[in-house]
Amino acid sequence: MFFKQKQKDYQLDQNNIPKHIAFIMDGNGRWAKKRKLPRTYGHHEGTKTIRTLALEANKLGVKAMSLYAFSTENFKRDAKEVEYIFKLPKEFFNLYFDELMKNNVQIRYIGHLELAPKETQMIIQDAVKKSSENTGLILCFAFIYGGRDEILNTTKLMCEQYKAGVITLDELTEDYFEKHLMTGDLPPVDLMVRSSGEYRLSNFFLWQLAYAEFVFDETLWPDYDEECLHRAIAIYQGRERRFGGVLK
Ligand code: IPE
Ligand code: IPE
Ligand code: MG
Repeated sequence: MFFKQKQKDYQLDQNNIPKHIAFIMDGNGRWAKKRKLPRTYGHHEGTKTIRTLALEANKLGVKAMSLYAFSTENFKRDAKEVEYIFKLPKEFFNLYFDELMKNNVQIRYIGHLELAPKETQMIIQDAVKKSSENTGLILCFAFIYGGRDEILNTTKLMCEQYKAGVITLDELTEDYFEKHLMTGDLPPVDLMVRSSGEYRLSNFFLWQLAYAEFVFDETLWPDYDEECLHRAIAIYQGRERRFGGVLK
């Protein structure tokens, strides 16, 4: 009989839990490849990690968790894989929506959902609507999202507002710009985690990560679990955030 190895116990400071954690969920394909399974199986397995982390982050009192689920560049992949990924929201919400609702989790999305098949759009919008009054963790899916695209679109919006006389150039501040990003009403990102041992942003949250702490974990996304989350938060709590100043 197999016993799950006892998880390492990280002593977390309850007063210093990151408010917003952003995940680059990476390594699904490699997870599947290692098992000689199709890449899609890795994506399927990866959705279980989302449930695990959402429930755990909610318990820890994290306010928002953003998940990079599909980038604007991921359209370069094989059409069959893209098609499969677009079916995952249905699978995910069929399995876990009720549980997330019971746990007061609020579902959101950012990105070009209009580029997804109609059914995918409806399933995500439905989950967002039904959970909109929930006051627990905000679980925000970055779906068909690109950081450069977001900055460019917000810039265009600012130009339109300026042209229409809604704002003057002086009123166009960093704060104002930030409020008009897709993440405008979420707390600033404190911690960014990328799984699978890749050390890059791949066009994720280019503005939002300016002062976030970065943690890179070797674990492939389907294997990423509560212990990994606790480890990431423990690393975060060990960092000294200065925001350009000098600590006294
Ligand atoms: C992350 O896993 C999921 C998406 C990008 C949609 P990958 O599919 O990138 O997995 P690897 O990097 O090929 O292992
Ligand atoms: C980033 O992962 C995108 C998501 C996790 C959705 P990728 O696997 O697409 O990134 P690259 O291609 O390795 O940079
Ligand atoms: Mg990848």
